[in-house]
Amino acid sequence: MNDPMMILKADHREVKRLLTALAESEEGAERERMCADVTAALKLHMEIEEKILYPVIEKQIGAEDAEEANIEHGLAREGLSTMGKMVAMPGFGAAAEMLKGGITHHVEEEETELLPELKEKLDRAEWLALGDAIAAAKAAAGAPVPPPARRRSAKRKVSAKK
Ligand SMILES: [Fe+2]
Ligand SMILES: [Fe+2]
Repeated sequence: MNDPMMILKADHREVKRLLTALAESEEGAERERMCADVTAALKLHMEIEEKILYPVIEKQIGAEDAEEANIEHGLAREGLSTMGKMVAMPGFGAAAEMLKGGITHHVEEEETELLPELKEKLDRAEWLALGDAIAAAKAAAGAPVPPPARRRSAKRKVSAKK
C-alpha cells in the first residue's frame, strides 16, 4: 500500500537537494559523484513517471497535460546532459541552477495540479495500486523506496472498527 504522492515527492526533494548542493560545489571528485547520483536518480524517476504515471494522466486528465509533462522531461534530460558535460568547466553552477529551475516548475505542476487531480479521479484502491507499481519499479531498479506511512493506515483501521 504505497501512496504515489509520497514516493514521488520524496524523489523530488532528493533531486532538488542534490542540485542545490551541486550548484554550490567545487570542481572535483565529490562534484562528479553527486552529478552521477542526481543523473541516475532523475533519469529513473522520469522513466517511471513516463511508463507508469503519465499514461494514467493522459487517460484520466488529458492528453495535453501528459504531453506537456513529457516535454518538460525532455527539457530536464537536456539540462542533465549539459550539466554533465560542464562538470569540469566554469559555469557548472549556472547549469545546475538552470536545471533546478526547470525542474522546480515541473515538480510544482505535478505536486499541486496533476497528482491531486489524478487522486480525485481514481478510487483509493487504484491510487494505491499506482503507488505500488511505482514502488516496485523503483525497487527493481535498486533505488530506495520510502516506507509506506503505516501509522495513518493503522489509525484508519481503528476508527473504521468503531
Ligand atoms: Fe515528472
Ligand atoms: Fe516527478
